[in-house]
Amino acid sequence: MRSKIVAGNWKMNNDAKETKNLVKGIRKAIKRFPLANTRVLVAPAFVNLRSANKKAKKSNIEVVAQNMHQENSGAFTGEISADMLQSIGIKTVIIGHSERRSIFGETDELLAQKVNQAIEKEMEVIFCFGEQLEDRKTDNHFTIVQYQLEKGLFHLEAIAWNQIVLAYEPVWAIGTGETASPEQAQEMHAFIRKLVQEKYNTSVADNTSILYGGSVKPSNANKIFSKEDVDGGLIGGASLNIEDFTEIIKAI
Ligand code: 13P
Repeated sequence: MRSKIVAGNWKMNNDAKETKNLVKGIRKAIKRFPLANTRVLVAPAFVNLRSANKKAKKSNIEVVAQNMHQENSGAFTGEISADMLQSIGIKTVIIGHSERRSIFGETDELLAQKVNQAIEKEMEVIFCFGEQLEDRKTDNHFTIVQYQLEKGLFHLEAIAWNQIVLAYEPVWAIGTGETASPEQAQEMHAFIRKLVQEKYNTSVADNTSILYGGSVKPSNANKIFSKEDVDGGLIGGASLNIEDFTEIIKAI
């Protein structure tokens, strides 16, 4: 059975102290309610991963990375490898976030290499993808999403999908306050699950968690999460606030 997941992507926010306080606050808040089959993940900046992980110890919070390099080690100034992440206890990494694609020029080919490296290193991947506003306006959103999945993930063997979580994030909904409607999210998630089923099989499709990301807030989380193929969310802005993030976790 696939898990429900609420993941906070903290992006380039929070210094050391703020990170610790945020983990501490979330930890305390979610202690009060049961989390049946639900995982709570947070992705702080690289420099704060270690302390966040320490603060999250023996709690329901898993600390994950926002990115990693596709090589193991070497002359790659400013980069971080899977081995480095694992050496501080990080087992999951976000790959392919739209900001990595658009601001840092990460291509589908590069992302496939990163995915391969993570799989080989036995890490879990939260693979992000989603269409631009223009794609949706021109009715190309399904084509784009299919292309991103084919390029980034569909070369993998079925067995590797144990290590894959999908995060559909329409770019026009990220940080804009504009959310996909629950119906739009469900329509795309069902399409994605069908693609996985056709490429692999029903078991892989049924066991893969598909998260929605893009302006999820306490006010809309319930409706989005109630959709059959939406297994949780990848939350940006609202995950920086203890109360908002807690409300979103409650919604699931
Ligand atoms: P917002 O929730 O701020 O729109 O960000 C979504 C996102 O990019 C999560 O990865």
